[in-house]
Amino acid sequence: MTDPKPVSASATSIVRRMKPAEANVAGNVHGGVVLQLCDESAATCAMRHARRRVATVRISEVTFRTPVNVGELLSIKTSINAAFGSSMEVGVRVEAEVLETGEVRHTTSAYFVMVALDDDGRPVRDLPRLATETADDERREREAHERRERARATR
Ligand SMILES: CC(C)(COP(=O)(O)OP(=O)(O)OC[C@H]1O[C@@H](n2cnc3c(N)ncnc32)[C@H](O)[C@@H]1OP(=O)(O)O)[C@@H](O)C(=O)NCCC(=O)NCCS
Repeated sequence: MTDPKPVSASATSIVRRMKPAEANVAGNVHGGVVLQLCDESAATCAMRHARRRVATVRISEVTFRTPVNVGELLSIKTSINAAFGSSMEVGVRVEAEVLETGEVRHTTSAYFVMVALDDDGRPVRDLPRLATETADDERREREAHERRERARATR
């Protein structure tokens, strides 16, 4: 059995300045563009934990709290909330920074479930367990287990 891995070992942040081609005519960045970056960051985070390729099987509770505007710097922060059998829940928080003023807004949150796959594309059996390091890590892990139970009840 592999040693448990701390949350901090796989925490990932992608930083990207938003371009006009990614926005509508009003200058607001498309939600799909933000979600794609979330998927990219969540997959990187999950791969860092599993050291395997991963597939997204579920995205939940996507909330767009405020618009993102062209020219703003987007930070997509991801960390593992819980590691189950072959799957992981990755928490995503997106912040937008107005570069001219330094103002930072929380714009988007979501949860991604990613499955670690072996070389034949099957779910792995040796996913490392998660080592929580802080009270926040423990709360997120507990809440991820509750979300998993709720999702399973409706599947
Ligand atoms: C990833 C994949 C190979 C797994 O195959 P599968 O037959 O679902 O495998 P299993 O039923 O054994 O499930 C594997 C794990 O995924 C989890 N899982 C599968 N579907 C899920 C869903 N919709 N929501 C949450 N978890 C899910 C299972 O709970 C299990 O987790 P665990 O091992 O931690 O308990 C298959 O689901 C797949 O290819 N999905 C499409 C992935 C994809 O293309 N993603 C891009 C989206 S466009």
